[in-house]
Amino acid sequence: MTLPEFGGPEALRWADVPDPVPGEGEVLVDVAATAVNRADLLQRQGRYSPKPGVSPYPGLECSGRIAALGPGVSGWAVGDEVCALLAGGGYAEKVAVPFGQLLPVPEGVDLVTAAGLPEVAATVWSNVFLVAHLRPGETLLVHGGASGIGTMAIQLGKAVGARVAVTAGSAQKLARCAELGADVLVDYREQDFVEVVREATGGAGADVILDIMGAKYLQRNVDALAVNGRLVVIGLQGGTKAEVDLSAMLAKRAALVATNLRGRPLGEKAAIVAAVREHVWPLIEAGVVRPVVDRVLPVTEAAEAHRVIESGAQVGKVLLEVPGAAR
Ligand SMILES: NC(=O)c1ccc[n+]([C@@H]2O[C@H](COP(=O)([O-])OP(=O)(O)OC[C@H]3O[C@@H](n4cnc5c(N)ncnc54)[C@H](OP(=O)(O)O)[C@@H]3O)[C@@H](O)[C@H]2O)c1
Repeated sequence: MTLPEFGGPEALRWADVPDPVPGEGEVLVDVAATAVNRADLLQRQGRYSPKPGVSPYPGLECSGRIAALGPGVSGWAVGDEVCALLAGGGYAEKVAVPFGQLLPVPEGVDLVTAAGLPEVAATVWSNVFLVAHLRPGETLLVHGGASGIGTMAIQLGKAVGARVAVTAGSAQKLARCAELGADVLVDYREQDFVEVVREATGGAGADVILDIMGAKYLQRNVDALAVNGRLVVIGLQGGTKAEVDLSAMLAKRAALVATNLRGRPLGEKAAIVAAVREHVWPLIEAGVVRPVVDRVLPVTEAAEAHRVIESGAQVGKVLLEVPGAAR
């Protein structure tokens, strides 16, 4: 899927382009499906350009079959069914992937559904567990509980024995979060999440907050944190610049971290993917954590998928299937 110029969903164009060639340490994957991430919308609008040397086409994850191995690849074979974290290029029939970013398709998950797992699993595992060290018995607050990220964060939080609070903008979305295990539900249009989370924790607050709003929620997130709380900002949907009262953070001995996955060096991505394979994949294979798919559209209708995400109608992931490829 090419992007001849930045713009609205109609800027996405399905066109013939040369096949990627796998370089040192890369495999070529015949794509069965990819998934839409919010970052793809920003890329389409010209607000999140891929780094030099990375595919200019959108798509941060995919599933498919290995079609060819580049030099220096070990542990994978042509024909293997895989899913992968990508730096770009997933909205396509073929993509080249560093082999450290490959994962096997989890047992019990079909090839198309697997396309929506790498980005959410890697983002949630790296931030909630490797950065914020969520522990059993702690409270995790997940903003946007019905998002792709949120639906994975709820399930992983519950799987390790944490208490999970979520925010969402409708009763229907909160009901879906509750089905996934969320214990505390906050309708951010009608309730103040600081008050609800404090009340639900006997005044203590949340030990870990996974934030996607950035500036808009910064001070309120600090207010909602418990002593020794960890606030991890991964999205900036509510702006990039805000003031924060550091005395409130100091008194709580609170930590604030902001991260992104896409820009990390290959070695860091490979380490995160290895941790996901070790810790998250067994939970998926045991049925404790389930992929949450809102809908599957043909990849040629990526523009429609972007409209769905922009409307905010989805719960979980919107997948894009390459017609005929999964068979
Ligand atoms: N840093 C990283 O490495 C990284 C990686 C992946 C994703 N992300 C970020 O994580 C976020 C989720 O990604 P996604 O692909 O899962 O997106 P998504 O499915 O499009 O979800 C976006 C969510 O934002 C929620 N939202 C909007 N306004 C809100 C508010 N005021 N309070 C709480 N929630 C609100 C929406 O919920 P309602 O409809 O209920 O309002 C929606 O569920 C995005 O901001 C994305 O950029 C970051």
